[in-house]
Amino acid sequence: MKYSVSGANVSGLASSCVIAAITRDGTLGPATAQLDASLDGAVRRIIDAGDFKGKLGDTFVLSGLGGSIARVVLTGVGEASELDAKRYRRALIAGADAAAGTAAEDVTLLNTLEPPAGMSTAEAVRLSVECVAYATYRFTAFKSKGAEAAGALPSACTMLVAEDAVAEGEQGLAVGDAVAAGVALARDLGNMPANACTPTYLAETAQRIAADNPNMTARALDQDEIEELGMGSFLSVTQGSREPPKLIIMEYKGGQEGDAPVALVGKGITFDTGGICIKPAPSMDEMKYDMCGAAGVLGTMQSVARLSPASNVVAIVPACENMPDGLATRPGDIVTAMDGQTIEILNTDAEGRLILCDAICYAKRYNPDVIVDVATLTGACVIALGEHYSGLMSNDDALAEALMAAGRSACDVAWRLPMEDDYAEVLKSNFADFANVGGRPGGAITAACFLHKFARDQRWAHLDIAGSAWKGGKAKGGTGRPVSLLMQYILDRLA
Ligand code: BES
Ligand code: MN
Ligand code: ZN
Repeated sequence: MKYSVSGANVSGLASSCVIAAITRDGTLGPATAQLDASLDGAVRRIIDAGDFKGKLGDTFVLSGLGGSIARVVLTGVGEASELDAKRYRRALIAGADAAAGTAAEDVTLLNTLEPPAGMSTAEAVRLSVECVAYATYRFTAFKSKGAEAAGALPSACTMLVAEDAVAEGEQGLAVGDAVAAGVALARDLGNMPANACTPTYLAETAQRIAADNPNMTARALDQDEIEELGMGSFLSVTQGSREPPKLIIMEYKGGQEGDAPVALVGKGITFDTGGICIKPAPSMDEMKYDMCGAAGVLGTMQSVARLSPASNVVAIVPACENMPDGLATRPGDIVTAMDGQTIEILNTDAEGRLILCDAICYAKRYNPDVIVDVATLTGACVIALGEHYSGLMSNDDALAEALMAAGRSACDVAWRLPMEDDYAEVLKSNFADFANVGGRPGGAITAACFLHKFARDQRWAHLDIAGSAWKGGKAKGGTGRPVSLLMQYILDRLA
């Protein structure tokens, strides 16, 4: 999709599909009123007839218009007084989705002229690009007929802005385009099956991303090098698998030489069977998404590579499979992490924390300003928060606040859960320094407490994206979260 910003007038517009937002009370915004005038009142008549009520998420397609505008997609935003970024996003996705269902070759958005109160043109354009990209994403790499299988999609998207806001809009477009590329990459990696998206493939992907930007490098350590680092915890997870593990390391130097970097750590379990503590068969296929933390981090690095912010960022991705095998880790096995702490593995299905703890130890070598790890870590987080909010736990209030604020402005929200040391009691072990699981209560929090044992001396936050990284059921697919949040956080730090 080719995106552009235009300061052209609505009257006199030529487009194969115009998307316009409609509120519940049926009053037309200034841009939509102009559109209506150039269509001889066609929009007004549909609303007055009661055929379209502007309900949030509803859409109405007028086609066969015959003039210079071939189609109009009306997208409901609900009550005008309640319009906020989240509702705006939902309406944009619904509108773009409806437009994608038509034969339109291009789309023009009027919404960027009528953003919610308090949203700048740059923000409206950024969000619009992200929404259109989200709605027109198709994953057809494994369909024998290729992209053809998904049908034709519009190839260009123009966003109208005020004549004097074109430059501002273009700034938003650059951010939106970069974020959309990162989100699409994260979705692709998540959607790929585990027999294609292997640790080796993730490492190659990191290399491809870095090749896009002269200030970015990527390398991957292999099994021997991981052993030399003393990552006994990480290695205990991979030992039942035939797939070689990788420790992916990316460095981006866009900031000042001495500026402490943001360190992103992403869980890269390319398939989680549970190991010897094997998972039940129903929905086990969804455990191909257990590398969505890695996908979110690599996606963010893709966005960084596109946008070249004046920041220093490092990404650490431990990647391997969790498989049952004659050589697999047994419940009760004790392993030693890179920093010398010993772990009694009481449940081989709590493997994410076992690879992350060594990666966090490694990230500390960079003396980072903050470490943010991202992981599909616990089913308990899905139970606690569902799919809308990612779970956030941190040992630093300011960092937690900054991440939540970034999430709110990027419409990629996170909710903080507590993480006092009281919760860590359940990790006590009779035989090692601590165990890798507590009981079921507070499972998302006790998992964070485990990670915190390796990040105590650091400003650190943990995003549990087990509920937000992909959707199950009929709409099964990766969401690309939390690329948007992380990129917003990186940009907010510069402001
Ligand atoms: N990858 C899973 C977490 C998960 C489960 C994410 C379902 C999304 C949906 C993780 O490795 C896991 O298995 N966690 C266990 C931890 C438990 C053994 C303490 C869980 O959540 O059940
Ligand atoms: Mn598991
Ligand atoms: Zn897992």
